Amino acid sequence: MMRGKFIAFEGGEGMGKSTQAHLLRDYLEKRGIEVVLTREPGGTPGAEAIRDLLLHPPGEGWGPQAEALLFAAARADHVARLIRPAIEEKKWVVCDRFIDSSRAYQGIAGSLGDHTIRRLHEIGSDALLPDLTLLIGADTHEVEKRLRARDGGSSDAIGGRDDYYHAAVNSAFEIFAEKEPGRFVRIDGSGTIEEVHSRVVAAISPLFETTAS
Ligand code: TYD
Repeated sequence: MMRGKFIAFEGGEGMGKSTQAHLLRDYLEKRGIEVVLTREPGGTPGAEAIRDLLLHPPGEGWGPQAEALLFAAARADHVARLIRPAIEEKKWVVCDRFIDSSRAYQGIAGSLGDHTIRRLHEIGSDALLPDLTLLIGADTHEVEKRLRARDGGSSDAIGGRDDYYHAAVNSAFEIFAEKEPGRFVRIDGSGTIEEVHSRVVAAISPLFETTAS
């Protein structure tokens, strides 16, 4: 039966994922496709409430296990209430971050391990994977400049972790993309927003050929 497509944007902090996700939504809508643009953590009222708990934790903050469980819980609600129904209604879902963020941040940088994060995803979301994951990479100096301009030095509980943590996140994404080439496309995030958008459009074009499957 025909179903919609599920595209995720991934990458470290300040790679321009949200901008590119919005531009892709507009591009697909111009082609007459019904699109649901969403993000993680978040996307449903329950998951947005969990997002707030994760990014602005009460008290002394979450331990690594509690943090990973909260991301998995937010994702379970998001998948059950928004993503799966949309795909079944033949809509295309464009999501700013998905499971590979949990694998890179909590699994690798946070040291819980990939196996644990995948298990949580099986339990929470039947291990749903996007049809295509676009990994946006950019020069780290360029990214630091963008982040300073965006956050003005202040950031949330996860964005504000040290450089070692974020370097581990970035290299984890690179390794996933290398090991799972059928699922990931790497997008060069350098240059203008429009240049990056054309790379995104080229990367997703094979999905149009499989819409009838
Ligand atoms: P957000 O403001 O959306 O960050 P960005 O603009 O960089 O995408 O905040 C999401 C934060 O949550 C970001 O630091 C990445 C982190 N995160 C995880 O640690 N694990 C996850 O599974 C997800 C989805 C996000």
